[in-house]
Amino acid sequence: MQIQPPVINIFEKAVRKAGKYLLRDFGEIENLQIQSKGLGDFVTNADLKTEQILIDTLKYYYPEATYITEESEKIIGNEEMIVIDPIDGTTNFIHGIPLVGIVIAKIINEEITDGVIYNPILDDFFWASKGKGSWCNNNRLRVSKRQDIIDCIIGTGIPHMDRIYPQYLKEIDAITKNCSGLRRMGAASIDLAYVAAGKLDAYWERNLNIWDVSAGVLLVKEAGGRVSQPNGESWDIHSKDILVSNSNIHEIIQEKLEII
Ligand code: IPD
Ligand code: CA
Ligand code: CA
Repeated sequence: MQIQPPVINIFEKAVRKAGKYLLRDFGEIENLQIQSKGLGDFVTNADLKTEQILIDTLKYYYPEATYITEESEKIIGNEEMIVIDPIDGTTNFIHGIPLVGIVIAKIINEEITDGVIYNPILDDFFWASKGKGSWCNNNRLRVSKRQDIIDCIIGTGIPHMDRIYPQYLKEIDAITKNCSGLRRMGAASIDLAYVAAGKLDAYWERNLNIWDVSAGVLLVKEAGGRVSQPNGESWDIHSKDILVSNSNIHEIIQEKLEII
């Protein structure tokens, strides 16, 4: 078993503390106050409270860091950047679907060095650190070994409302008729963690933000998977679109997405 680096211990402390709060709210979903934040996008009291717990806990250990979070203004600090999504999968959360992730990642010089994703409902704690592998609840994660796309299950994020882009139905058509099925988890962090765990064989999505994918990208890489943009160009922390896979089926998916 890999000993968790100190930074992961700190992130774990933060997400477990926030997770306790979220779990309570999950049990009382109907009492949550939901306020509209643009089309089809809701921010709940739970998002805001969770983010505050995370920031308060992390600031004790990293008072000088730069913080980029989904729900608040950027806190400008030093070159150590901490990226937070307090609830990835908010729509799942408010519908009582237990696929959510509390996400924290550390980025230095544009490189993701450490990350955690915690699903407090299923009590799944995922972590990865550069060179130290990907882990979930003390088990080492590896991407799947499937070679043939026809045997594969592939995750995606079906866009909705103002997030619709012109070719999304064609993309879905091109992939779904060649594989064992598509999955729409509703939480990008969970899609990525599940590719790292070998449950999904690949995942692509467009129009994402760094807090959705930061920790998950490192999990996939450290589990032996491949990360790029859907057109095969290299992915970096400014990219909006992503394709990750077990490596074996990366090019075939890329080709199918590209001919559209
Ligand atoms: C969303 C989820 C979803 C993805 C959206 C994200 P949120 O994050 O990750 O799976 O399709 O693009 O915005 O809003 O639940 O934090
Ligand atoms: Ca998110
Ligand atoms: Ca969120």
